[in-house]
Amino acid sequence: MEPGTDPLTVAILGSGAMARYWAFSLETMHPWVVGQVPPPYHIVEMDGTEHRLTPLHFDWCDKPPRTPDVVLLLIKWRRMPEAARWISAHAPQSLVISLMNGMGQDEALSTVPAIGLAQGLTTAAATRREPVVYIRSHGQTLVPQLGDPRERRLQKASRTYGWDWCWVNLKTMADLRWQKLLQNSVINPLTALADCTNGEILERTIWQLARPLLNEGTQAARAVGAEVPQDMLGRVTRLARETRDNLSSMVQDVRAGLPTEIDAINGYIIRTALSHGITVPTHQALVRLIHSLTGG
Ligand SMILES: NC(=O)c1ccc[n+]([C@@H]2O[C@H](COP(=O)([O-])OP(=O)(O)OC[C@H]3O[C@@H](n4cnc5c(N)ncnc54)[C@H](OP(=O)(O)O)[C@@H]3O)[C@@H](O)[C@H]2O)c1
Repeated sequence: MEPGTDPLTVAILGSGAMARYWAFSLETMHPWVVGQVPPPYHIVEMDGTEHRLTPLHFDWCDKPPRTPDVVLLLIKWRRMPEAARWISAHAPQSLVISLMNGMGQDEALSTVPAIGLAQGLTTAAATRREPVVYIRSHGQTLVPQLGDPRERRLQKASRTYGWDWCWVNLKTMADLRWQKLLQNSVINPLTALADCTNGEILERTIWQLARPLLNEGTQAARAVGAEVPQDMLGRVTRLARETRDNLSSMVQDVRAGLPTEIDAINGYIIRTALSHGITVPTHQALVRLIHSLTGG
């Protein structure tokens, strides 16, 4: 076999809804799953078709047999310390692709400087109701082009196996990640505070905070050069309507008494804004309120 043509080893970090969704989507590449929940994983597609997956699984403290070429980061932010330690120990020079919500993965993984870090985004959606993960949407998955050779092999594999990631330039990726961050910074904390679905939040008084949240967040985004469309409020309103039956992941975390991803979403906006002298009082108030709900 020519060098570089052997199959890529892909390690998925996390064992939740998104990790199992990608273990299913990339099944032909035989990805490993690293996390606390062992297989079998039960996946139900949108048309009701059921699948049982048994990928090779490692717990966080297990030593894998070799270094993976590609690491897919699909944890929630509360697991970032374990993920950073795992990457540092077992994949210190691998290509790491994050499809998590929130921003700041580069800072969180700065202890492993030799990795190639691709901070992408996905609009795929999956809901975990143990022991089943229900696929709700395949959405679109965007990954920035870093020019890394493993990336080209992954692109080739995606064409061969028929999963369709879109590889975009770094500037476009940064703009789109900021736009998703702004959407999440409105829908996630407001639904968590109102304890309601994405559709119900549009009828609640607290939805009036959507406009100041977006105004403040847009200033922060533009301060770092990100392009944000003028009609963000219309876009977020449409998104909440289109996903009206969804319970955001922050509602689910608050209900489960788990730490939320607020510090990587609204917290990231606050850190960016303050470092550019921009005031973001609505985001700051929401972060405090969400922390008060989860004791964090
Ligand atoms: N779900 C979606 O539709 C969706 C869509 C776009 C982006 N995202 C983002 O993707 C990332 C991962 O989200 P997710 O929805 O996959 O999170 P999740 O299902 O809540 O899983 C998060 C973590 O919870 C732990 N966990 C899972 N099942 C468990 C069980 N039965 N018992 C105890 N612990 C369990 C796992 O920890 P270990 O890591 O230790 O295994 C897992 O990684 C987040 O950044 C999220 O915002 C999610």
